[in-house]
Amino acid sequence: MILITGANGQLGRAIQNECVGRGIRILPTDFFPEGNRKPNGLTHLDISNFVELKQFLHRNPCDMIINCAAYNEVDKAERDTETAFLVNGFGPKNLAIMANQMQIPLAHFSTDYVFDGKKGSPYEVWDKPNPLSKYAESKLYGEDLIHRFTNKYYIIRLSWVFGDGRTNFVKKVLEWSRDKEELKIVEDQVSCPSYTVDLAGAVLDLIAAGEYGTYHLSNTEYCSRYEWAAYILKQTGWKGKLIPVSSAEFLTVAKRPAFSALSDSAARRVLRYSLPNWKDATLRFLKRYSEYGNHIHK
Ligand SMILES: NC(=O)c1ccc[n+]([C@@H]2O[C@H](COP(=O)([O-])OP(=O)(O)OC[C@H]3O[C@@H](n4cnc5c(N)ncnc54)[C@H](OP(=O)(O)O)[C@@H]3O)[C@@H](O)[C@H]2O)c1
Repeated sequence: MILITGANGQLGRAIQNECVGRGIRILPTDFFPEGNRKPNGLTHLDISNFVELKQFLHRNPCDMIINCAAYNEVDKAERDTETAFLVNGFGPKNLAIMANQMQIPLAHFSTDYVFDGKKGSPYEVWDKPNPLSKYAESKLYGEDLIHRFTNKYYIIRLSWVFGDGRTNFVKKVLEWSRDKEELKIVEDQVSCPSYTVDLAGAVLDLIAAGEYGTYHLSNTEYCSRYEWAAYILKQTGWKGKLIPVSSAEFLTVAKRPAFSALSDSAARRVLRYSLPNWKDATLRFLKRYSEYGNHIHK
């Protein structure tokens, strides 16, 4: 039985589907503030509450934990820093302590934003992190605490995640373009878009291989936010004007790395394959998204 935390998020949903497809028994949980309705089959579990987590695991013994829970609001984390560190730092620490006590593996996800983006070529797992934002600091703190509290871990850094679930860049571009004739998108932020469906399959393959450690996973090839938006809008037949702008023109509260593409060399050595490229992944997501009745211009 695998405990999935944050199972209602983008990656959590895909991991659930992939486990079910492979006949793996799961216990999907997520944080539901009091009064919120729990979607089908999901149980409430707050990873930042150690007592709650401990009691939960005593009632529901598991063979593994996959932690998809996170605080992902990059700009909000600059002022709501305590919550970011609570969920992205102390949450993984609590899970690591319990995984260590129960002698079970913990899979956890981190981000390309732990790097400062100055390297100029895709980041390897051994490159030195240097976070530029509170969000990135909180994710790196979570990695450090896992190292400290358990041995059997997979820390898997991901970049620019999109899939079913909450909002993501693809959905935002579709929304922004719907009632606009002109759209400005930054061209000086480059990374690898990553589709949750592809990530989930590779994550379970990595875990099946049993080689603990730190990995980078993403769809292959990289692009700027502008190139990604242009590709998305080309598929939808949008007739408006897309304008590339610099991050300096488009100031956000939190700093983002300029070039944070991840190299999958460590994961590829174990998996013996790479994920499909980001264009292929984006197309598959758009097709699925429009099948669900979401209007995409055409
Ligand atoms: N999204 C990206 O572009 C991106 C990029 C790089 C790395 N990552 C990493 O990839 C992983 C998966 O990301 P994702 O996009 O699937 O995230 P997501 O969609 O934001 O899902 C995270 C889930 O965790 C839940 N959660 C928040 N606080 C919790 C708590 N205290 N206890 C239990 N659950 C809690 C969230 O609930 P609420 O929705 O109610 O808050 C949400 O359902 C995360 O580790 C993330 O940091 C994401």
